[in-house]
Parts: sequence; C-alpha cells; structure tokens
Amino acid sequence: MDYSWRNLNNIYQHVLKLGMLSPPEDVIACWLLFSSKPKIETFLELGSYIGGGLGIFNEALCETGHSNVHFTGVDHLDFIGATTTGAWYTDHFKKCLTDEEVLALSKINGVNEAEDWIRERTARLTGLDLNVTCLKNEQEVTGQFDIIHHDYGDGVNENLSTIKTAIPLLKDDGIYIVDDWCTGAPLRTWATVIAQQEGLLFPVMWGKNKVFFAKNKQQAQHIVNLILANPNCNRKLFRPMPGSDFFGDYYKTIRMHWQAMQWS
Ligand SMILES: C[S@@+](CC[C@H](N)C(=O)[O-])C[C@H]1O[C@@H](n2cnc3c(N)ncnc32)[C@H](O)[C@@H]1O
Repeated sequence: MDYSWRNLNNIYQHVLKLGMLSPPEDVIACWLLFSSKPKIETFLELGSYIGGGLGIFNEALCETGHSNVHFTGVDHLDFIGATTTGAWYTDHFKKCLTDEEVLALSKINGVNEAEDWIRERTARLTGLDLNVTCLKNEQEVTGQFDIIHHDYGDGVNENLSTIKTAIPLLKDDGIYIVDDWCTGAPLRTWATVIAQQEGLLFPVMWGKNKVFFAKNKQQAQHIVNLILANPNCNRKLFRPMPGSDFFGDYYKTIRMHWQAMQWS
C-alpha cells in the first residue's frame, strides 16, 4: 500500500474499510514522520477501539522500513455494547464491520479476546501480522515508546492527566501524537496547549486533526530537520512554518497543507 500523498483516495477507502477514525491526510503525515525517523520499535495507542488505526499504522510502518514494531493498545472496551446502547459507534460498526464481525465483537469478554479479535482482523484485511498487547487502562502501561498516539479523553483535566501519565513513557527522541486537535475534541486541544505552556510538549508538525510533539525543544527541532531533509517531504504539502517564537528564537515547525493535498 502506497501511503504517500499520491494515493490519497485509496488511503481514504482503506481507512474506511479498516474503521480507523482519522482523516487520510493525517495518515499521510504519519507516513512522512515514520519515513523520517531512523528507528521505530515500540508504539503505544491510547484508544485502540476496533484496531483499525493499529492496522493502518502497522502497514505504514512496514512500508517505511520499520517491521515488527511492538504495539500496545489501551482501551476500556466500553464500545462493545454499542449495538445495544445505540451509541454513535453503532453507525460506525455498520460502515466498516460485517455482521459476523459485529457478532464476534459483541461476545468479546476482556482484553485478551479483544487482542485476538484485532490481530485476526488485521491479518485478514492487511495481510500483515500485528504484534500487539492490549490493556484496559493507561495506568497498566510499562515500557518506553518511540511513538504515542493519544486518541481519547473529553475534559481538560482528564486529557492533561493522560499526557502527564504518558510523557514519562515516551523515549527522549519519541513523538507524541495528539488526535482530534480540532473541534472534534476541543478540550483535548486545550489540555495540550496547557501542556505546551508547562514545557511538557513541543510542537513538531501540524497535521489536519493530528498534531505531532516532541518532549523537549532540541528533539523537536532535530525531527523537524529530519522531516524537511527527507526526499519524501513534498514542500508544497509540508511547509516549514517560522515564527513560532513562543518556543524561542528560530524555533521551527511544519504545517501540513492538507487543502493542497486534496486539490492535488
Ligand atoms: C476515538 S476512539 C479511538 C479510535 C482509534 N484510535 C482509531 O484510530 O481507529 C477512542 C477509544 O478510546 C476508548 N476510551 C475512551 N476513554 C478511555 C479511557 N479513559 N481509558 C481507556 N480507553 C478509553 C473508547 O472505548 C474508544 O474505543
């Protein structure tokens, strides 16, 4: 699967099929990051849901030379009752899951079964093995991660607490990705701004709904330079953004021009 901007429409269809809750433009931003980082071995997803994101990240990582990444997926699995509670997930299930998959999902009892369900579905839909451990709660996570994808939380304090729990789990040169940095989760955005003011997160790249951060200024600038030096970095679509002087003189970030990606 080509995860570059050249393949936006097919990536969109693939994201819908796997049931990842992200715009395809953000998947392309992840692909650019993955192909700019020398080594990625561990990936933590906070909010693994039905595993669509895990499957897509796994494919994009393999394509960019990071095979056999170990994933940890955290999810309290409350969505499993969605077909009976009428939650919004019900409509999403209809979009991406077969009747058999919904039935099997409804019978899942605990993280070990969720892990098997996600692994089997990923292998069937992507043809790749997914090396994943599922946990129910962020407090159970141990280890050090190259990438953390933060994809749950409504309130400011809840999100700030997740950031403060997760940052010590991020390697010094790791990247912290926050999803729904938009009106999709406005208070998560707010929490992230507070975390930046507290010196916990330093922006690297602004995607469509995902924003990419490092945990210190030096690493943020290092990865910005690696991305800009990457031959896959189409400068019409990924533009250096000067003037981020809040973080100090000459601090630079990258803005993805996702509108131009759609036009092209
Ligand atoms: C938006 S979905 C994640 C989508 C997924 N990352 C993807 O790209 O397809 C958020 C998930 O987080 C889970 N969740 C919400 N709050 C949580 C919490 N405090 N702890 C663990 N899981 C949580 C929900 O059950 C839901 O499956």
